[in-house]
Amino acid sequence: MEKPNKRILSGVQPSGDLHLGNYLGAIKNFVSLQHEYECFFCVVDLHAITVWQDPAMLAQKTREVTAAFIASGIDPDKNTLFVQSQVPQHSQLAWIFSCIARMGWLNRMTQFKDKAGKNSENVSVGLYSYPTLMAADILIYLATHVPVGEDQKQHLELTRDIAQKFNNDFKNDLFPIPEPLILGEAKRVMSLRDGTKKMSKSDPSDYSRIMLSDSKENIIQKIKKAKTDPLPLPENLEDAKKRPEAMNLLTIFAALSNTDAEKVILDYAGKDFSKFKNDLGDLASSKLSPISSEMSKLMNDKNFLDSIINSGKEKAISVADPVLKKVNEIIGFLSR
Ligand code: TYM
Repeated sequence: MEKPNKRILSGVQPSGDLHLGNYLGAIKNFVSLQHEYECFFCVVDLHAITVWQDPAMLAQKTREVTAAFIASGIDPDKNTLFVQSQVPQHSQLAWIFSCIARMGWLNRMTQFKDKAGKNSENVSVGLYSYPTLMAADILIYLATHVPVGEDQKQHLELTRDIAQKFNNDFKNDLFPIPEPLILGEAKRVMSLRDGTKKMSKSDPSDYSRIMLSDSKENIIQKIKKAKTDPLPLPENLEDAKKRPEAMNLLTIFAALSNTDAEKVILDYAGKDFSKFKNDLGDLASSKLSPISSEMSKLMNDKNFLDSIINSGKEKAISVADPVLKKVNEIIGFLSR
């Protein structure tokens, strides 16, 4: 079997509206990486159902994430865009990995602890074993690199541990040990209401996040209302790091304008937040509005989206199936 040396897989859940964190932490980086790597981008609907999803909404959100990939600039002809549940090899490998991963490894996953909270007896088994499915998503393509936001780093470490243990247990070198690509200025975009909390789909406050589907006016309004401290903007990076809300807005500005936070701090040092927020509102709406209007256009062309999803599925299966066959053979399963 041919082993790639520059292959990417990454996934995005269709569990709600995409927000600025998803865009800056992941999708924007996918767009630049597509020129350098062979890429598989997956809408991870199997991950989404680890918590309840309304069936009609799930179908719509699955198309919406596909539309967001394309509207952001991912070329659907050059890359493989597909839907996870349509490639059954992911779930089959996930079962095998749930027999490789150790309970102790999964018990350490902070995302599970955060999501389950005090309710851990009552959440789905899938929410707990979720990282073994994520490892399968990556390794079924023998992917070498995985671009993600910082919040997924621990899951990537688990993926590496699973790949290593499988290779050791069965004395082979089938799986690469994939490298995380955590890139750009906005590796962890924080809530606009609380600079110590991650921007997330599940935050009850709409004002905590900017959605890709937000109107221009909405974006400007949310940035105006973003929490800040009473001081003027920081004079240097060290100062900024001690002020989470300021640092978050500065990082968002830097990521949207393709520069670094230090440069933005220099430009706005000692100025007050109202001018900065006006500029950031204009910048964010000018970068995001074209994406959101392209997404709406694509959402009105269901046939086009479904044809992309369908050819993505064929391509994904043609790569994933030989890997699954090889895994089965290594384990000692009878051949199909
Ligand atoms: P998900 O759907 O929560 O998020 C999709 C991508 O967006 C990034 N992200 C963020 N980046 C910066 N700041 C934030 N506030 C922020 N919020 C989200 C995530 O890091 C991610 O890159 N488990 C994954 C999906 C997944 C996956 C995979 C990723 C399933 N299988 C295989 C990579 C490879 C998740 O829940 O992402």
